[in-house]
Amino acid sequence: MPSIIAISNPKGGVGKTTTAINLAASLAIAEQRVLVIDLDPIGSVGTGFGMAESPNDSGMFEVLSGNMDIPQVIRPSGIPKLDVIPVNVYSNEREIRIGDLSKNRVLLRSQIERASARGAIDYDYIIIDTPPVLNDLTIGALMASQSVLVPMQCGHFAIKAVSRLLEMVKRIRSSTNPDLTVEGILLNFYEKGTRASTRSSEIATELFGHFLLKTRIPKNSALGYSAFEQRPLAQLDIGSPGAIAYLALAEEIIHRRKRRAYPLSRKNEIRRHPIIARLDASE
Ligand SMILES: Nc1ncnc2c1ncn2[C@@H]1O[C@H](COP(=O)(O)OP(=O)(O)O)[C@@H](O)[C@H]1O
Ligand SMILES: [Mg+2]
Repeated sequence: MPSIIAISNPKGGVGKTTTAINLAASLAIAEQRVLVIDLDPIGSVGTGFGMAESPNDSGMFEVLSGNMDIPQVIRPSGIPKLDVIPVNVYSNEREIRIGDLSKNRVLLRSQIERASARGAIDYDYIIIDTPPVLNDLTIGALMASQSVLVPMQCGHFAIKAVSRLLEMVKRIRSSTNPDLTVEGILLNFYEKGTRASTRSSEIATELFGHFLLKTRIPKNSALGYSAFEQRPLAQLDIGSPGAIAYLALAEEIIHRRKRRAYPLSRKNEIRRHPIIARLDASE
């Protein structure tokens, strides 16, 4: 089974879509097979990979309306090992309709399970971008995921938004999806040395310390520019601070996944395992 990660925060403009695109590209650069699913009707993930949305195309809209299966709507991203499913909500009518369809909150989960069970999809990671609101689409993504990655914008913390999201994670864990965990909270728009970023980092540590990811994404205008160019930043400028940070984030996530693969009840065996020994040595 793939690791399924929802990128979520009910506040807009914090870097969810930027993270979905650039984390996915970085995981693929790290030789992981990745599928990105766009569940935000605005459709910025598809555009971020240079994909059109029109009646002639297909995407998550067709999957949720039951007209197509996931494997039929997968498109290559142009980056090896990385595929994308755009949302394909190109009209207001479709936006209303996808809202109605998503009232069935287990639809996405069952579609992914069905495709995985018959071997029609085979990925290491599935990354799901969600809308900037805690609606049925977002809840459906959380129900289908193993973890949630929460970008936060330094200097513009919306603690309430994140608290509500974590509350929802708790509810979903106690009902449909007991395996759901928090992948981590990701500080975005980080500006080293500024008071706003230092203070943001202190507050985040105080409130969400155990969830805070080591990697921080710097404020980097190249990330905004790459959205206009409709490519992940790594493809345009692999040496830019934004691209380097997302590569580090991919590494951090892969590292944690390897650790999670070993149950804690086998602690000593875990320590002796060559992969873990190597990971420990590199810390
Ligand atoms: N680290 C960053 N540095 C500079 N600009 C960023 C950064 N992260 C995101 N942006 C820009 O901020 C805007 C909002 O990001 P986006 O990923 O669309 O947020 P969300 O999906 O949470 O609404 C976009 O224009 C994006 O290019
Ligand atoms: Mg977005």
